[in-house]
Amino acid sequence: MKATTRAAVEQEFPGLITAAEGARRRAWAPHSKFRVGAALLFDDGRDERLVGGCNVESDVYGLTICAERNALFAAVAQGRGEPLAMAVVADTDAPVAPCGACRQVMHECDPERRLRVFLVAGSSDVVHETSPSELLPGAFALDRGEARSSPWR
Ligand code: THU
Repeated sequence: MKATTRAAVEQEFPGLITAAEGARRRAWAPHSKFRVGAALLFDDGRDERLVGGCNVESDVYGLTICAERNALFAAVAQGRGEPLAMAVVADTDAPVAPCGACRQVMHECDPERRLRVFLVAGSSDVVHETSPSELLPGAFALDRGEARSSPWR
């Protein structure tokens, strides 16, 4: 985990944190009131370089989905190429820690092991840079007896 700043992330991945903040405003969290936004940045030839996701809660609590998985699954459903970077932001003083389920999915969505992950604090300039492998060492993977598979086009 490496400390960085919003300005540094903005310079390298323009619009990424703003997109995560925009997604956070669309969060539906009537139960926890904990709103989270995530965004992915692509350089896959499409005009729209950013895909966002927010947490969406259900009255059946266990059906809730986190912002990180919502963003990743939305991007896969759009048939995107592999993302370069991901930002996650919550209404917190310190950068949010993704849950275990999201860490597993992030790991599976990073077959080339080059996804840059930025965990952003909602109310300060503190940003932590990390990676799916750092977030989930020893992640589970199905041994399909073939080369590593990828959900990206
Ligand atoms: N949540 C996320 O969306 N991402 C995280 O990294 C942590 C937790 C959501 C799930 C639930 O809607 C709420 O935050 C409280 O757990």
